[in-house]
Amino acid sequence: MAQGAPNQILTRLVPWYIESRRTLPWRTNRDPYRIWASEVMLQQTTVTAVIPFYERFMKRFPDLKSLASAALEDVIEHWAGLGYYSRARSLHKAAIELARQPEFPRTHTELLNFPGLGPYTARAVSSLAFGEPVGVVDGNVIRVLSRVYDLDLEWWKPKERDEIQTRADALAQGSVDGRPADPSDVNQALMELGATVCTPQSPSCLLCPVTTLCRARANETISLRPRPKPRKETEIWLWEPLVQRSGNKQVLLVQNDYAPFLKGHWIWPGKAVRLKKKPKDYHYKGLVTHHEIFVNVRTSKTSKSPKKAAQADQQWVSLIDIKSKIPSSLVRKALDALEIS
Ligand code: ADE
Repeated sequence: MAQGAPNQILTRLVPWYIESRRTLPWRTNRDPYRIWASEVMLQQTTVTAVIPFYERFMKRFPDLKSLASAALEDVIEHWAGLGYYSRARSLHKAAIELARQPEFPRTHTELLNFPGLGPYTARAVSSLAFGEPVGVVDGNVIRVLSRVYDLDLEWWKPKERDEIQTRADALAQGSVDGRPADPSDVNQALMELGATVCTPQSPSCLLCPVTTLCRARANETISLRPRPKPRKETEIWLWEPLVQRSGNKQVLLVQNDYAPFLKGHWIWPGKAVRLKKKPKDYHYKGLVTHHEIFVNVRTSKTSKSPKKAAQADQQWVSLIDIKSKIPSSLVRKALDALEIS
């Protein structure tokens, strides 16, 4: 057998996973609904941060039917704290559609037809819940496979990423000691290895179950794998925040779902549009990662005394508390532009 052949890797990796996996609330059974909800929450949020939210969410919506029949506001409220509310909206929308099916779809190709279920989530659900032999490729898996196979790939390009997908699929279809491996164990073992041992900086190679099979370790290229993704080109954006003031010195904030910068942060409601060239008129500008943002502030006064904001992704905040609520100067400067304090 060639060094690093899938079955040789699996024979070390899978028993390691079974022995040392973390006890996580979505690993207690193979309920597709529970697994799906966990995978949606785990996108852009760490395992440790997700656990308490996941448990609260499952208490309120223990099965697909309870989520499908709930009001969206209720779902959003139980998502509060996780951010990126578009995930909660598509989870709810997909739950309504899935509840109409005679049974939960068992393959990733069927699952791809539902809102919010992309290649990653569809494969995670079908392999973890139903044992479909398909590989799941996330950041952790990209790192682990790039190192184990010493792949010098521009993995952010779809064609080169397909090479990683092919390797992950081969592993999900492999065997341990002559018996087909459980694709759920294979996929979660790769994710677990990436999260706990094969970390981006200073990986714990001495604790790694596949260290003697790792080609990057043999070739001394660990620190070069995976390749760093090139920095993104700067984009020009026009942001028009709307500062709404109430009679009692409160302002309305929303959890950002509409602008590509400061995603998930509390910011002003408003709109953001991408521009080809820099505008001439604006109040101020700022830079957030690769976004160069020109800000044009608008304002309105509402005489209504605000009640509790209608949704969990909106809130009225007193001007006194604004500093603690919004650390970003790009957001706070809107008040200076309007000379509000
Ligand atoms: N990240 C994404 N899916 C995961 C899972 N099932 N277990 C641990 N971490 C994960």
